[in-house]
Formats: sequence, structure tokens, C-alpha cells
Amino acid sequence: MNVIITKDYEELSEKAFAILRDVVLKKPDAVLGLATGSTPIGLYQKMVEDNRRGGVSYRTVRAVNLDEYVGLSPENEQSYRRFMRENLFDHIDIDLKNTHIENGVAPDLKEECARYDALLRALPRDLQLLGIGANGHIAFNEPGTPFDSETHVVDLTQNTIEMNARFFEREEDVPRRALTMGLKSIMDAKKVLILAVGENKADAVKGMLDGEISPSLPASVLRLHPDCTLIADEKSAALLK
Ligand code: GLP
Repeated sequence: MNVIITKDYEELSEKAFAILRDVVLKKPDAVLGLATGSTPIGLYQKMVEDNRRGGVSYRTVRAVNLDEYVGLSPENEQSYRRFMRENLFDHIDIDLKNTHIENGVAPDLKEECARYDALLRALPRDLQLLGIGANGHIAFNEPGTPFDSETHVVDLTQNTIEMNARFFEREEDVPRRALTMGLKSIMDAKKVLILAVGENKADAVKGMLDGEISPSLPASVLRLHPDCTLIADEKSAALLK
């Protein structure tokens, strides 16, 4: 894994943007695997500012997102679909028809997972962007998720529910289940970019790089990827040698 340590969030977002920009400039109809959470917001702001200035165009880019909460409709304020519109899609020249995310209110969740896997096969990702959970999860692949997993329904861990409660009014409002791209689906991307910010990610970053490669720390699987870059700010990298 290539590791880049930055002094702060601003530099991390700039470096992440440089990598993404390069992918889209080389391939204007690139498929980008995108992520939610607070971590990629700085990168999304860079994309928006640059796009407004007439920089990189996303007109022919296709986007597939990692995950979505079960039970939240695309219009729900806390849904990841809405997050993507508010933080990125509504501010760049991407065609919304080319943006995809699991449907958290699909009547048959199993069928929805199969639909999403077929979509992922039809749209091989040129770049997969990731954040990391404090327990080492990627997307919503919680500890114990098999490395060969594809899109599936997960019961969120208490740790994840508590971490994500900051986006909701009350902890009880955080959905208990989600649909997520699996670890195999993530590993299928040609290139992976994982971002880590803040001291509460330091244990996960250390475990990912220096611990055992094991489902008990899902992000450790990325060490088996031929083209994966971690950009970590100094705080999240504090425990690395
Ligand atoms: C959620 C998302 C992950 C994200 C993680 C970390 O659980 N499903 O994709 O990486 O949160 O979020 P944050 O970037 O806000 O720390």
C-alpha cells in the first residue's frame, strides 16, 4: 500500500483531489466509486470548486456509491443518496442518471443486492474512494465480514451506530441496518484511495497497516490490493512507526 501522510485535512483533500482528477482527465467516462461520511467532504469541495472554475468535467463520468441505510428513502435528509446530492452531485456537471446507490427502501432487499452486484459488474470502477470506521470497517463492512463478500444487508455494530449518531437528531433515529458493497466488490476496483482523518482513526490505521490481514479488521484486506493508496493526516497516522 502506498502511504501518504499529510499535515492536515486541507492537504489531505488536495492530494486526494489530485489523484481523482488524474483518473478523470485520463478517462473522461471513468467509473468512480464514491463514499459518504465526513472524511471525503473536503475532497468533494475541491471537486466542486474546480468544476465551477471550468476545471475537470464529470459530464460523462459514472458514479457508484458504497452503501445506503435500510429504511431511508432517497429523499430522506439522512440518506446517503441525499448526502451525495447535497455535498457533490448537485454542484458539479455530473448527469444524475449516471449516479448509482443502493435503494434502501427496495421491497426485496436480497433482490436489490443482486441488482447492485450486476450493476457493479457492468460498471467496473476505475477508482474506489473509501473512508475508514474507527473499528476498521470500510463502507459498512463491519468486523467479521468475509473477504469474498459482495453487496449485502448488514446489522450495524453499536460502535458504528454511536459514531454515526452525530448526523441524526437522536441515536434512536440511526437505522440499525444498511446495504453495503462487499469487500470483494471493493477489491475489484482498479485503484483504491482510502482517506483517514483524526485521532479516533489512529488505531484502525495502525491495525490496517501493521496488524494481521484478517476479517476482524476489514480494511486490512486492502493490503492485498495491487494499487491502493492511503492518505492519512498526522493525527490518524500518529501510531505508525
Ligand atoms: C460510515 C460509512 C463509511 C465511512 C465511515 C467513517 O460508517 N458507511 O463509508 O467511511 O462512516 O465516517 P467518517 O468519515 O464520518 O469518519
